[in-house]
Amino acid sequence: MTVGWPASLDLHLDWADRPDSSKLAEALRTAIREGRLPAGSRVPSTRALAQDLGVARGTVTRAYDQLVTEGFLLSRQGAPTTVAERLASPDPIDAPPDPETPAPRWDFRPGRPNLSSFPRRDWLAASRRALQATPDGDLDYGDPQGHPALREALTEYLARVRAVATTPERIIICNGYSQALSLLSKALHDQGLESIDFEDPSLPQLRAIPAGFGMAVRGVPVDRDGIDVAQQLSRAVVVTPAHQFPLGVAMSSARRTELVQLAKAEDRLIIEDDYDGEFRFDRRPIGSLQGMAPNHVAYAGTASKTLAPALRLAWLALPPHLVAPVRALKEHSGLHAPLFEQLAMAELIRSGAYDQHVRRSRAVYRRRREQLLDALSDLRAHHRPYPAGISAGLHITLQLDPEGPTEREVLTRARKHSVELEVLGPHWAAPGQHPPGVVVGYAAPAEHAFRPALQALVTVLQR
Ligand SMILES: Cc1ncc(COP(=O)(O)O)c(C=O)c1O
Repeated sequence: MTVGWPASLDLHLDWADRPDSSKLAEALRTAIREGRLPAGSRVPSTRALAQDLGVARGTVTRAYDQLVTEGFLLSRQGAPTTVAERLASPDPIDAPPDPETPAPRWDFRPGRPNLSSFPRRDWLAASRRALQATPDGDLDYGDPQGHPALREALTEYLARVRAVATTPERIIICNGYSQALSLLSKALHDQGLESIDFEDPSLPQLRAIPAGFGMAVRGVPVDRDGIDVAQQLSRAVVVTPAHQFPLGVAMSSARRTELVQLAKAEDRLIIEDDYDGEFRFDRRPIGSLQGMAPNHVAYAGTASKTLAPALRLAWLALPPHLVAPVRALKEHSGLHAPLFEQLAMAELIRSGAYDQHVRRSRAVYRRRREQLLDALSDLRAHHRPYPAGISAGLHITLQLDPEGPTEREVLTRARKHSVELEVLGPHWAAPGQHPPGVVVGYAAPAEHAFRPALQALVTVLQR
């Protein structure tokens, strides 16, 4: 019997490594031995699987040839390749090490893009072009602010896409947003700033950065319009206006105006963490806050969501008075951003390949978001998406029914089903009772594994 590619197949490939033909063959062998690829089932065409995994077609062909030689697969002229009958034993050869805590298979952690769609070919081409063109002198220590080519490319890109008003002289290239926030916090602390506000909830590891310099960190509540500006704010406040992390609210235009006016009137600094500003699906992204008040907003963007966190590439567009102190800290820390990544990124932007990649990714994430909401629609009685009405970013936060399973119980259940996700609990800054919720990132699973991943997620969240 010939059946299609089973929807629940997971190849257990290590996505940290680019799978080669022997790793792919081993993953398929295991799937056949464990019965996840049943006898007689049809394996995907080499072209389809190669595209899905982001590998060369030859890699898949070699893996299939090897398995045909070993008798795992049957290949006949003019017919689809199928799993051989005699070897399809459902008995697993290797028992999982601990049935209570299997390694998470379905990755719904927020903050991760789809790593298998990294534009390898464009990146390689951009790197090659940039390296050929760069003079030998560029291989020196270089400008601690970052290579001028990237700062120029970003100035144009950020103006066009995020309405950021800056110049190359005001941009500082950093090793990820974490370093950007660290440099800014230290510079502000050195200038005598003793406290800083974050939205509540927000990422605890980011709040820990200024706290590490001895600053008092305060959480300011977020409502449906964004951070509550009626609270007495500190001299510096960190916000995620395009898509609040983790609640997902977009700051309303009235709130944006209020916050900017406050910053201008009282000479406060807004730190704008624009971590996923490119991903707005229901309409054109709203421009940055920075564009409304370039002298009072330190804008931060990152390649971690659009390309890959491993690049450790982020950028600050600073008010003039902060450029020299942040630049000096960067210089003295010795943490210059690596040259080749900067040059490749500049070339990727200049060539238009970055815009193309972001456009493609936006379409994929929009579809995934719809599929996720669809899959969860039967569970709405217990888990309401939070907030209703905005479609953006790479994650959804769901409110848990306070009468239902606790966050801890959901995490335990998730672990049992090999699902990795996060809960709202650790994101709250203020102590006390908070509404329970789960934070579900939908970008990370590989394309071929997205549907089975959704099934696993629904199983976890079902009551
Ligand atoms: C709220 C928020 N800001 C910023 C970042 C980007 O951090 P980095 O550039 O250090 O990878 C993330 C990544 O997960 C994030 O969730």
